[in-house]
Amino acid sequence: MNLESELVAALKRARRVTVLTGAGVSAESGVPTFRDAQTGLWADFRPEDLATPSGFLRNPQLVWEWYAWRRERVNTVAPNPAHHALAAMADVFPEFHLITQNVDGLHQRAGSRDVIELHGNITRTKCFDEGTVVAEWKDTGHVPPQCPHCGGHLRPDVVWFEEMLPVDELQRATHAAMHCDVFLSIGTSGLVYPAAGLPLQALGSGATVIEVNPEPTPLTARVHFAISSAAGVALPRLVEQLRA
Ligand code: OAD
Repeated sequence: MNLESELVAALKRARRVTVLTGAGVSAESGVPTFRDAQTGLWADFRPEDLATPSGFLRNPQLVWEWYAWRRERVNTVAPNPAHHALAAMADVFPEFHLITQNVDGLHQRAGSRDVIELHGNITRTKCFDEGTVVAEWKDTGHVPPQCPHCGGHLRPDVVWFEEMLPVDELQRATHAAMHCDVFLSIGTSGLVYPAAGLPLQALGSGATVIEVNPEPTPLTARVHFAISSAAGVALPRLVEQLRA
């Protein structure tokens, strides 16, 4: 039995499947990743200036406009075959959990339900001081706009460095990682914790762990199956074989 058929056999036996995705899943939609050399966002921008509370307080207008630019890009792209394959995968298994580090909402636009968003969502906005999500605000000309409740700065509802992950989402993600038969880590460099710890928790709980990434990561040497391919190629093929 070759590696791929062993992998498909392990998936066909599975009842509970958990998936963790990262920026690589949206790369084929035209959304830049963070750490890919030259093309990654962190190649051109300093995360400490743009993705930290202290960076925001130093220059709120710069940060607000940078996220507005990213939001604009996300609005102009569409989910790719990897997103659609994961939406289809949810109907293949009795229990399926999709955890993402992505803030682009492309999984939901591809039809995935109940996505566990570990790092928030760029299409939502919240008050910097109160932490409450704000859907509407008056355009007073301020950049960033002001919270209609307290007058404080508004900010994107994403998790920045130095910040805690949303408690409920992290608890659900940890439970899903520790109670699955197969865990798939797709399109993530595995460098940012606590998300990068989830595949290790799945390994420690006896799950079969599969990685999909064209490049090796710190996780590659520890997984049962490493698919060295683009997600938009590997995942539709995997779903096809699961349905066969
Ligand atoms: P990274 O940019 O660190 O890693 C993207 C990974 O996707 C790399 O390992 C690539 O090799 C891989 N990749 C690229 N194209 C791919 C494709 N077509 N198919 C499959 N994989 C592909 O992005 P993340 O791991 O998501 O957090 O980064 C984690 C977190 O760091 C982000 O959520 C963000 C960032 O800073 C915060 O801002 C808090």
